[in-house]
Amino acid sequence: MLDVAVVGLGWWGRVIVPLVQTSDALRLVCVADPDPASAAFAAQHSVRHVGDYASVLADPAARAVILCTPHTLHCEQIVAAAEAGKHVFCEKPLSLTRDEVLRAVAACEAHGVALAVGHERRFEPPVIEAMRLVRSGALGRPLQVEANFSQDKFLGMAADNWRMSEREAPAGPLTATGIHLLDLSVGVFGEAEQVFASVRQLGSGLANGDTLAMLVTFRGGGHALISAILATPFVGRFAVYCSAGWVEVRDRAHPEAPKGWTLTVCRRGEDPVVTEYAPAQAVLANLEAFAAAAQGRAPYPVSRADMVANISVFEAVVRATRSGRVEAVEG
Ligand SMILES: NC(=O)c1ccc[n+]([C@@H]2O[C@H](COP(=O)([O-])OP(=O)(O)OC[C@H]3O[C@@H](n4cnc5c(N)ncnc54)[C@H](O)[C@@H]3O)[C@@H](O)[C@H]2O)c1
Repeated sequence: MLDVAVVGLGWWGRVIVPLVQTSDALRLVCVADPDPASAAFAAQHSVRHVGDYASVLADPAARAVILCTPHTLHCEQIVAAAEAGKHVFCEKPLSLTRDEVLRAVAACEAHGVALAVGHERRFEPPVIEAMRLVRSGALGRPLQVEANFSQDKFLGMAADNWRMSEREAPAGPLTATGIHLLDLSVGVFGEAEQVFASVRQLGSGLANGDTLAMLVTFRGGGHALISAILATPFVGRFAVYCSAGWVEVRDRAHPEAPKGWTLTVCRRGEDPVVTEYAPAQAVLANLEAFAAAAQGRAPYPVSRADMVANISVFEAVVRATRSGRVEAVEG
């Protein structure tokens, strides 16, 4: 068992706490949030509550932290956890700039702690199968990703919520959903080269924009065409077109409450084959993979190179939405 503290008890921290409490691989030793109202949630879940992150870092009972905090805090909180010798699971985005993610990764390497990121889409059973097929070469050379992750969960938020601020959530839907698809695209093609992206406020009052389109080119070849919208009902689709076939995953619901998936695989000259997948807890699978990595039982499936590549392209997307031009990805 890995003894963990969940830090940040807002929307996502409150999804993660009960999941951790069902796990045989993780044990929840405390939770932290400066908002006094979060103490009642901790009491309901019979877990010790502290008001500040420093108390978690000073607590020898917590071997690891799970960060579910605002985005601008991520880099410093990862570095502080590593310096305190704690393994780190951080929600996406791991950081907001390439310089920051390099610093976060370097701190974890210097202090010999595991680093994991909240990209649960990689742990969805049909996505694992799609990635396995693409990497095996069975569908030929990967040519292009086409993906969409849209939802309307933010429509009711107060206008001053940090999730709508340009500083915490640049490029509108990017930090909410688009970044998951950048991560999957990096998983297929590796480092990105250039980005064109546009964000508009078209269908809501979300001040930093609700409709994001991205076109990414990759150094080794390949494109990703990514759509992320926060003003339309949920849709989740990830497709990889290859020289000898294609594979597509369609989600039935947001990862918060999975309802299963449909996987379609088409090989040249054959009819598409459709497989239905039952609901599975990808968020928990990701957390348990983190525990396995922290305890040296298995490497974490998302490489640190992919974590850096993802934030590098993320940063270029933000620049492109501001400049209106094609932006090079650093690296
Ligand atoms: N993986 C996913 O699918 C998914 C889904 C939703 C949110 N998220 C991510 O989870 C993170 C949190 O988002 P959210 O929607 O839950 O936000 P939220 O605003 O609902 O919750 C954030 C919480 O962090 C607390 N907090 C602020 N500063 C803190 C500090 N220094 N120490 C401890 N707690 C602090 C706040 O009081 C608040 O309760 C973000 O990174 C977000 O992108 C991931």
